[in-house]
Amino acid sequence: MESDVLEARQAVAGEFDVVYTSIGTITWLPDLDRWAAQIAGLLKAGGTFYIRDGHPVLYSVDEQGDGLTLRYPYFGDGEAQIWDESSTYAGDGVVAHPRTLEWAHPISEIVNALIGAGLTILRMDEGTTLPWRFSARMVELDDGFAWPEPERALIPCTYTIIARNPAA
Ligand SMILES: C[S@@+](CC[C@H](N)C(=O)[O-])C[C@H]1O[C@@H](n2cnc3c(N)ncnc32)[C@H](O)[C@@H]1O
Repeated sequence: MESDVLEARQAVAGEFDVVYTSIGTITWLPDLDRWAAQIAGLLKAGGTFYIRDGHPVLYSVDEQGDGLTLRYPYFGDGEAQIWDESSTYAGDGVVAHPRTLEWAHPISEIVNALIGAGLTILRMDEGTTLPWRFSARMVELDDGFAWPEPERALIPCTYTIIARNPAA
């Protein structure tokens, strides 16, 4: 099954115990209220939503900077950031359609979209390691990539949220 995630509810039949999404997910989406509505619509009453993704603060950092320098907007204005990058993390070679559009979503927008869709936030955490090398300055650890030690506690790299669709 393949679908625009913003149309996921109508793309599949049934309701589910768990909706899981991880890493490289919502930055491609212009509308988080519509995203959250898909999740709420797909979950059974009492079902659980889980997300782990790159932290919006991380996405505002200059990945090519000599230090931790802010370069990109943390707060979105509804306009897409447009990137042209033909290489791919999925392997060697180039992609046929190199243009990507990304939207900045602050952590408050993410949380409020889920609350607005009727979900109950059970837990939120922030982490300092990533499953990909966001910047060439990152070092590789046993459990992923991270900023060099003196900088590691300065900003988050990931967040996780666990939410529940309230029982009817
Ligand atoms: C960075 S990849 C991450 C994939 C996966 N989560 C992982 O960790 O390997 C982002 C994926 O999101 C997909 N994508 C982007 N916008 C989407 C949308 N509106 N609906 C469904 N998939 C989308 C892209 O095609 C791409 O496969």
